[in-house]
Amino acid sequence: FRTLDQLDAKGKRVLLRADLNVPVRDGAITDRTRIERLTPTIKELSDKGAKVVVLSHFDRPKGKRVPEMSLRPLAEALSTALGKPVAFADDCIGPEAEAAVAKLGDGDVLLLENTRYHAGEEKNDPALSAEMAKLGDAYVNDAFSAAHRAHSSTEGVAKLLPAYAGRLMQVELEALEAALGTPSRPVVAIVGGAKVSTKLDLLGNLSRKVDVLVIGGAMANTFLAAQGHNMGKSLQEAEMHVTALRILDEARAANCEILLPRDLVVAAEFKANPATRTVGVDSVPSDMMALDVGPETVDAIEDRLRKASTLVWNGPLGAFETPPFDAATVAVAESVAGLTQSAGLKSIAGGGDTVSALRHAGVAERMTYVSSAGGAFLEWLEGKTLPGVAALSAS
Ligand code: 3PG
Repeated sequence: FRTLDQLDAKGKRVLLRADLNVPVRDGAITDRTRIERLTPTIKELSDKGAKVVVLSHFDRPKGKRVPEMSLRPLAEALSTALGKPVAFADDCIGPEAEAAVAKLGDGDVLLLENTRYHAGEEKNDPALSAEMAKLGDAYVNDAFSAAHRAHSSTEGVAKLLPAYAGRLMQVELEALEAALGTPSRPVVAIVGGAKVSTKLDLLGNLSRKVDVLVIGGAMANTFLAAQGHNMGKSLQEAEMHVTALRILDEARAANCEILLPRDLVVAAEFKANPATRTVGVDSVPSDMMALDVGPETVDAIEDRLRKASTLVWNGPLGAFETPPFDAATVAVAESVAGLTQSAGLKSIAGGGDTVSALRHAGVAERMTYVSSAGGAFLEWLEGKTLPGVAALSAS
């Protein structure tokens, strides 16, 4: 695909697909990462004299003008980040948007209202894509985190205008390519989270591509139970046992070492700071539940990490939001940050919970790359083609 290096932006109306779907609580933005990462692309286009027209979705209004899901507050947030005014238009297509675009001078920036106020957006309606395309001479997609959606603003419009990848899109794709495309080996993947059922494709794809696959979180309980361990009251998916055993077989056939927990931190109930015990996987008491992996498991993970060149991480190892069940995730995160800084480990992480866990551990800044994507990062790990990326390659 083409990048901003190939785009002669001066005087052109550049339709920029951003992902301004930032977390908001009580009307206040609680995390500005996506805004900060988008800023370099807007600055570059603006400095080159483009008229920058920013398109984004926000939340899931399902084709209705839900006032709480307006992008209007984001114009001010963008303006603060850029240090220059950002205009706002009340619709992403139609006379109002067209008039606002016509008013732009070279270097000016305009944000359009939520694309998902139009039902056609999620349907990838060609009529909506055509209306959007009217607003630009070129299209730049910088929303890797929305690239798993085949929508008008991510896919449809890319077919109607000369299309380019923005700088954030470029950095995300380069990081993922380094992790799973042509990685330096050995590659370790850490996968955690609650359910095997939501990460089947991901586990299957990773076991074909990585050298060591560490499985933690509640999904590890399902694997251990499938192997015949008594997991007491632990959260697990009994209906996934056969599948879990199949995943283990396939990994073995692909020469991928699967590292399951060796010891577990258990408690009688799931609450903050209860009485806990650390037990071997064979000794989970029938009235207790596993809520984190234990120190012996952390040692085994660290041993694999010391021998690794590349790490891909998705999902916490324990119930990290409830102390003390953050201990293993924090310990491993610290090791990863240390090895990244001192031993050249390439560490790439992504997915909503993972990013919160790494922030909680205070190591997000010391990883090689932390993706701004949730669902798109997962689909990439599943080996899927992302429609937003495919449309750029095809352009
Ligand atoms: C995200 O936050 O992961 C992206 O903005 C995509 O949002 P969606 O899951 O509502 O499509």
